[in-house]
Amino acid sequence: MKIGGNVFRIIYASRVSRPLASAELALLCEVATDRNLADGITGLFLFDGLRFLQAIEGEREAVEATMGRIARDVRHHEIDYVQRIHVGEREFPRWSMQMPSDRTGTTFLETVKADVAQVRDPYLRAQFIGFAKLASLWRRRGEG
Ligand SMILES: Cc1cc2nc3c(=O)[nH]c(=O)nc-3n(C[C@H](O)[C@H](O)[C@H](O)COP(=O)(O)O)c2cc1C
Repeated sequence: MKIGGNVFRIIYASRVSRPLASAELALLCEVATDRNLADGITGLFLFDGLRFLQAIEGEREAVEATMGRIARDVRHHEIDYVQRIHVGEREFPRWSMQMPSDRTGTTFLETVKADVAQVRDPYLRAQFIGFAKLASLWRRRGEG
């Protein structure tokens, strides 16, 4: 029986440690996009203004090295690992980042839904959609 494939996946959730200015966030995204492209890492990065939920996939060494840098980053804390496993194939074959929209939370939710539509594992889909749903709830209530 094949226990694990060649792809390694880490999923974690964390909280922003201080307010992030949009320019800072834009730079973070730029750096992450460039590095991940160079390192063969794909995945999904969600930020709702308070919390991060991120999946990264690729060769184990590259994924662990990326996670090492991310974990040391003081812009977030309270990292909770949701998944850290070998998988047969990528569930996120491209790199994607989603931020809360300026208008309503619905846009964020719809974009996330579209992003995970091709993900085969229903548990993973639910995880990301649930995160986006909570974000749209608290944004509608004006708590964000
Ligand atoms: C929530 C969060 C997610 C991040 N995601 C990535 C990522 O996917 N890839 C990446 O290379 N850097 C990511 N970073 C940035 C890294 O923490 C780090 O700043 C960057 O990789 C540059 O590292 P270096 O200055 O040691 O070269 C993320 C940072 C935060 C706070």
